[in-house]
Amino acid sequence: MGKKYYIKTFGCQMNVYDSQRIAAMLKNLGYEKAATPKAADLIILNTCHIREKAAEKVFSDLGRLNLVKQERAEEGLDTVIGVVGCVVQAEDTEIAKRAPFVDFATGPLTYHRLPEILTRVARKRGISIIDTEFPAVAKFDFLPENKAEGGLSYLAVQEGCNNFCTYCVVPYTRGVEYSRPVAEVLKEAKRLVDTGSVEINLLGQNVNSYHGEDENGKERNLAYLLRRLSEIDGLQRIRYTTSYPADVDDDLIACHRDLKKLMPYLHLPVQSGSDKILKAMNRRHNSADYLRIVEKLQQANPNLRMSSDFIVGFPGETDDDFRATLDIVNRVKYIQAFSFKYSRRPGTPAAVMDNQIEEKVKKERLEILQNLLFSYQLKFNEECLGKTMPVLFESKGRHAGQLIGRTPYMQNLHAELNKTNLNKIINVKVTEATANSLSGEVV
Ligand code: 5AD
Ligand code: SF4
Repeated sequence: MGKKYYIKTFGCQMNVYDSQRIAAMLKNLGYEKAATPKAADLIILNTCHIREKAAEKVFSDLGRLNLVKQERAEEGLDTVIGVVGCVVQAEDTEIAKRAPFVDFATGPLTYHRLPEILTRVARKRGISIIDTEFPAVAKFDFLPENKAEGGLSYLAVQEGCNNFCTYCVVPYTRGVEYSRPVAEVLKEAKRLVDTGSVEINLLGQNVNSYHGEDENGKERNLAYLLRRLSEIDGLQRIRYTTSYPADVDDDLIACHRDLKKLMPYLHLPVQSGSDKILKAMNRRHNSADYLRIVEKLQQANPNLRMSSDFIVGFPGETDDDFRATLDIVNRVKYIQAFSFKYSRRPGTPAAVMDNQIEEKVKKERLEILQNLLFSYQLKFNEECLGKTMPVLFESKGRHAGQLIGRTPYMQNLHAELNKTNLNKIINVKVTEATANSLSGEVV
């Protein structure tokens, strides 16, 4: 019997993408997917370091996996446990100390060396291997070709970040910015479309700072890449995430006017509405800059709706600063958002700033913000009632005969539909709306 793998993924879309690439590599090595960790010879945790909670979850999960390893050992089965992703980059020694049963650990920029790492593990059973160097060559050159797993595919075009927001670990875990060459991205996109994808979501920690080389060695921006991608026959929807406000240029704004395939939904994190806090965060925009960008984008495409990330309780945040965040929410009327209590990350400048905010205050502010965000999300969803929207159906619903898909605005939509409609875009009339999802009927 062949060997089996199990991967558990924490964190962002980039980690989901990385896990898919790891799975493809393991398949090439002859591994099959296991349904549970207990059934797996190789268990991999793909980890997230963005907030303390995410990082701590990894250690509690590892504790449970060690029990699985012991249970399997009692049945005479060998289990390799690996940790990949951002926690490894940031806490390699911590992993070795707190989870010595881990067989290998590799950072988000080095997992393409997995085949070699697994061979080394097999040879030196019992000795942990940690691989976290920032490599000189791009991992993308070493990964197997990406194939569609459904109607929607993620495609990493940029990785890393040079922005150094003072709260954020990403520049330390994902390294400096790197953009994949245009030709490589187009080739991967065509392959994804040829193998069944109708929607591609371009990924990057700072995707709109994309500056990959074209076929003639000339640096090109994200707008250029979007225009080239939109020429691919059979590709019907394009998205890109996550964008940095100060890097939204006029070229990119024009894409929202010109490219029909570009979806009318943009994730553009503002983080805070207070200029004082934005400055302390080292964001290169103030609230007026941000609002101007949103206005220009919505002039280019009046149907465009926004989503954002928010942090409450950043060091020094007063009630007035917090009110400015609520103000910007009232101005932009986000249709979706992710909001977090500030989490002190070791090694980042904000972790040692004065005026850290009490947990109680953070909690109160988060609740107020989330209630406000929720009200706009519900309002927008209710405005969709009676409208017909093209929905890409991605997965089966809870009961038989039901499918779940996404509208152009990233809303989840349930409909009674035969599973032959999976991975297709179908027109649906919205009949029910809650804050978190829509239901509809095929027209
Ligand atoms: N504390 C809380 N939230 C954070 N984020 C990043 N770092 C932190 C932190 N230290 C949030 C930001 C970012 C999202 C991915 O996570 O809002 O946009
Ligand atoms: Fe982190 Fe800021 Fe870079 Fe986003 S732009 S990844 S928040 S440092």
